[in-house]
Amino acid sequence: MRKTRLAVFASGSGSNYEAIVSACCDGRIDAEVVLLVCDKPGAKVLERAKRYGTESFAFNPKDYASREAYETMLATMLDERRVDYICLAGYMRIVGKVLLSRYEQRIVNIHPSLLPAFKGAHAIQDAVDYGVKIFGVTTHFVDETLDGGRIIDQGAIVYEGNDIEELTNLIHNIEHNLYVKTINKLINKKY
Ligand code: GRF
Repeated sequence: MRKTRLAVFASGSGSNYEAIVSACCDGRIDAEVVLLVCDKPGAKVLERAKRYGTESFAFNPKDYASREAYETMLATMLDERRVDYICLAGYMRIVGKVLLSRYEQRIVNIHPSLLPAFKGAHAIQDAVDYGVKIFGVTTHFVDETLDGGRIIDQGAIVYEGNDIEELTNLIHNIEHNLYVKTINKLINKKY
């Protein structure tokens, strides 16, 4: 049977990419990562992709006239590789009409808060500043809004310490397991 084909989009370190690809390699996810897309040439995720032998494509959005222009180019690459799902893993960009319409209900994201609380790029720090005690992670379908779209899974922890680095590591650990669970739900259409 044909394996589900994933593309991962990332902008930074890529620990979630690595969690996904390693789960595909050891059979915890019955799928393959066929493309890593990165909008930050030089990002660490590209080294990780090399290590796992994932084809990667890095581009600078500033080299394109518009979001529509670079997404049209990306859509062609995704079509050529017969990608089934796009997993955003620290992709620091809004997804536009071109990809959303072609991959309706097939683009998912992971965010380090219990959405709809604390959207945006500084979710963990914002939650700490607010005095939150129950932190969490959310996976969700992607729509045209920032960290919007229907929730698929959530994971939570109680943390009352004041070490942001420790908290961030705890949250990342939850993320890595949660994304594996979510991708399995997608593959089995159980969401
Ligand atoms: C994660 O916290 C993810 O939830 C958020 O961006 C971060 C990416 O981390 N969207 P990494 O690059 O996967 O290590």
